[in-house]
Amino acid sequence: MGNKNFYITTPIYYPNDNVHLGHTYCTVATDAVKRFKEFQGYDVFFTTGSDEHGQKIENTAKEKGQEPKEYVDGIVENIKELWDKLDISYDSFIRSTDPKHQKNVQDIFKKLYDKGEIYKDFYEGPYCTPCESFWSEAQLVDGVNCPDCGRPTHIEKEEAYFFKLSEYTDKILKLYEDNPEFLQPKTRVNEMVNNFLKDGLDDLSVTRSSFDWGVKVPFDDKHVVYVWIDALSCYLTAIGYGHDEELFNKFWPADVHFVGKEIVRFHAIIWPALLMALDIPLPKKIFGHGWILFDNDKMSKSKGNIIYPEPIIELYGTDALKYFLLREFSFGQDGSFNMDKFFNRFNSDLANDLGNLVSRTVSMISKYNDGVIPEPTNPAPIDEELKEMAVNTLEQVEKYMENFDFSNALETIWKLIRRSNKYVDETEPWVLAKDEDKSRLNTVLYNLAESLRIVSVLVYPFMHVTSDKIRKQLGVEEAVELEQAKTWGLLKSGNKVNKSEIIFPRLDIAKELVRFDDANTALIESRAGDAPVLTDEKSKPDVTIDDFAKMDLRVAKVLKVEDHPNADRLYLLHVKMGKIQKTVVSSIKEHYKPEELEGKNILLLNNLKPHNFRGIESAGMVLAAEDEDGNLSLCTTISEMEDGLTLS
Ligand code: MSP
Repeated sequence: MGNKNFYITTPIYYPNDNVHLGHTYCTVATDAVKRFKEFQGYDVFFTTGSDEHGQKIENTAKEKGQEPKEYVDGIVENIKELWDKLDISYDSFIRSTDPKHQKNVQDIFKKLYDKGEIYKDFYEGPYCTPCESFWSEAQLVDGVNCPDCGRPTHIEKEEAYFFKLSEYTDKILKLYEDNPEFLQPKTRVNEMVNNFLKDGLDDLSVTRSSFDWGVKVPFDDKHVVYVWIDALSCYLTAIGYGHDEELFNKFWPADVHFVGKEIVRFHAIIWPALLMALDIPLPKKIFGHGWILFDNDKMSKSKGNIIYPEPIIELYGTDALKYFLLREFSFGQDGSFNMDKFFNRFNSDLANDLGNLVSRTVSMISKYNDGVIPEPTNPAPIDEELKEMAVNTLEQVEKYMENFDFSNALETIWKLIRRSNKYVDETEPWVLAKDEDKSRLNTVLYNLAESLRIVSVLVYPFMHVTSDKIRKQLGVEEAVELEQAKTWGLLKSGNKVNKSEIIFPRLDIAKELVRFDDANTALIESRAGDAPVLTDEKSKPDVTIDDFAKMDLRVAKVLKVEDHPNADRLYLLHVKMGKIQKTVVSSIKEHYKPEELEGKNILLLNNLKPHNFRGIESAGMVLAAEDEDGNLSLCTTISEMEDGLTLS
């Protein structure tokens, strides 16, 4: 096949917490591509890893009373254990705390600085701590919220180094224009152009000085390098950049970076700009896949709807999970997960279709021919459709895999499986068994086993454990190769089949729902108990009673709620505090209907410095509690109090 090299990556995961089913999705997909490409004769390098720096990790570690490295070590161990359980065939698990990588980040930063691509200045602007991103005013939602996670930003000012990203707007647009394949699926291009490129890019602040946990700027150690430069560079370190030139030259540029939709911006704008500035060739493709939602909702710990892959693997096996993830969802789009869907697909596709084909084929050969694969000496026209379909399936699967369309690739294989089951019903081997002349029965049994052998080759990249089990039952000993799916008749007559366990026993869904829930809850609880949170940790510095006294906090009655005339997501709250009446602008619209607020008492910071929100001045802020998933609840007093009262 010559020197066909292929470099594929998953994102470099953020070990702020254990990975859940959503994170597993991309890794399973990457693994399937790696195995498929290897099947096609490519030399494949697969990188994954952990992106361990940044303020969020520093804070989480502090909350747990641990050093950041100590904290991430535990999570990274869990992640690696999970990838082992899933038999993920990565070639490099790069950790951004690896000294080799940190040196690369410093060298890259220095190179950019020396080339004049990075300069020092001051940055002041809205900053989202959870996303570790500065945003421009124009990008904020409702004038204050982070456009990525929706949580409120705050103004931060710091001395910082800047990358001249603004000089790359046209170059990135041209990149998309000249290479329509660069960013997939196509909708992601529109998202990038409309949300970021259309109005021109701003220079990017690429250092932080407000925290320590990161790679130090080599010539100015007050600053640490922005986590995204650090993280993206992992793709280079993993294949030898800076330490193994031969490996690097063999695999760079990457053939594809698989990334979730919310981080496409970093991969399709910032990453190519950085590489252009460094004179490093660009990756050939960025594929922005969709999210796996739980019952249409984002998975999160606080909503209690996190699904961890471990219990699924333990109860139903790695292949069932891999098959489900790749078959159920369209890779480029969001998909909604729940265990009902998993069990239904398990029963229909794995137990009824594939499992049934394996067990009836092997059983009939055992029963009617002493477990020996017979000779196909008596063909009939009805066999042709099956044969033709079997040898032509691979070509279609390859086409789908070219576009990372796992779902259709698998559906194509399942068409062959269903066709084979139909062949059993059409040919009725149990009737043929009554004939004196067994040649037709033998031919039918051979054809079934041969079709199943081809299925075992086709499913290999997606579910190799199952493929091995099928081949063992068919008595096939040769190592599996792609070419074997193109030719009919490779199965050796005379082979002994090995009738053994049912590969996917049918599940009693009602029972399994309970069994799974118990296992998942037990894991969630055990993880929650891993590291106790220290209760005396504070998220902000102490304030004196005088600081507190500066705030005019009031009980306020909501008189009327109106839509902001110039902002879709804002309300105008007309409130009364005793004799005082005023209007404040608030971003609580997506959480409350006007009738839920009118007539109610809320708590208000009455002396907040006035701010203009899209043409309306607001001097006040309502108090609310908001969790990490954006669930919000307004604050009030436990018992009904007069409006206008000052809080103390
Ligand atoms: N550390 C960055 C990536 C740096 S790459 C140079 C990061 N890490 S992450 O752990 O937060 O996310 C990793 C990947 O998991 C992202 O691609 C993200 O889209 C994906 N997913 C997280 N939740 C997901 C789902 N519910 N469904 C599918 N993928 C999701 O971002």
